[in-house]
Amino acid sequence: MAVDLNRKTSLVNAMVPTETQEERRSSLASKRKVVLDDIAVSDVYQIGIGAFTPLTGFMSEADYRAVVDTMHLVDGSIWSIPVTLPVTEELAGSISVGEEIALVRADGVICAAMRVEHMYRPDLEHEAEMVYRTTEDAHPGVKRLHERGNVYLGGPVEVFEDERVDEFSDYFFTPEQTRKIFADKGWKTIVGFQTRNPVHRAHEYIQKIALEGVDGLFLNPLVGPTKADDVPAPVRLRAYQTILEHYYPQDRTFFGVYKAAMRYAGPREAIMHALVRRNFGCTHFIVGRDHAGVGDYYGTYDAQHIFRNFDTRELGITPLFFDNAFYCKKCQGMATAKTCPHGDDDHVTLSGTKVRAMLREGIAPPPEFSRPEVVKVLMEHYTQS
Ligand code: ADX
Repeated sequence: MAVDLNRKTSLVNAMVPTETQEERRSSLASKRKVVLDDIAVSDVYQIGIGAFTPLTGFMSEADYRAVVDTMHLVDGSIWSIPVTLPVTEELAGSISVGEEIALVRADGVICAAMRVEHMYRPDLEHEAEMVYRTTEDAHPGVKRLHERGNVYLGGPVEVFEDERVDEFSDYFFTPEQTRKIFADKGWKTIVGFQTRNPVHRAHEYIQKIALEGVDGLFLNPLVGPTKADDVPAPVRLRAYQTILEHYYPQDRTFFGVYKAAMRYAGPREAIMHALVRRNFGCTHFIVGRDHAGVGDYYGTYDAQHIFRNFDTRELGITPLFFDNAFYCKKCQGMATAKTCPHGDDDHVTLSGTKVRAMLREGIAPPPEFSRPEVVKVLMEHYTQS
């Protein structure tokens, strides 16, 4: 059933058509320029390509409030994380509602045009509490929230193509492209996988169990802005490259990057991650333990429990839940508490934080945790930097 719904979700296309790009760019030359931070840049491109369908721009006050309080937009569609354009008081004072502004990247390039239809003051503490379940600055998402401006601009955007070429370019696809690719492959059911960490055995285990039940696996690591101590995206990309062709079936796996920013909003972000993968054409989405979590802010399975609030048909994608997976020395294989009768002492489990600490000290994570090919890539990065 989810398949039909997924196919029916029509995508937003907020990109400036190629033939009018030049004209549109020159029409913006005289407009007020607003420099975006890294999160807003990644957001604007996601809106442009339709990854954030049904969003067509930065949120109005009404949508913002509805999302914060009810996880829905005013029109009733599910949306769990505010996508807003914060500016400083000072800048807001120089902008009028109704004005068209040019949205500019830090390198000076205009990435979008925006009609300012809304200007409002958010309640940042309420937003933090509702979205992140904490108001502590120790939470990286809350910290960013407080660092960004305290006036929000809302309105529809028209986005120019991202012309930057980098190591991710060959793996970047728009939702329209991935939907076509999946259809061309004849896949009717596709499971999406989100990650911000280097691929490890538990990832591979849950990806492959999920793949047993569907036609294709869409590996879609997030490579947009993350917190400073996460493993850099190019390193994670290299880790995937080293194992993809040796351990994944080429005809049943598709690899493409997701250039959005990480929010670390745990449960709320799991919903957003699922909606985005629906937009990319997935019918199923993997949610394991502490999805999009950070520190101890969320319960191990909170990001699964939040799905109880939504009808799968309304979401347009079916979540697939997985228990915490580990290597069991007695079973001599990957398992979860559901499938393994042995105790914690027999289990090899390492948190992302622990792995990063080991790598910084030059200690290789064991092969039961990560494939040696992946460990090699990670060690190279950490011993050189
Ligand atoms: S994140 O985007 O969710 O922060 P991460 O790489 O940590 O990225 O996890 C990617 C996906 O794998 C998430 O759905 C997460 O819940 C799941 N996951 C990670 N490690 C495990 C594990 N050991 N057992 C079960 N699920 C896991």
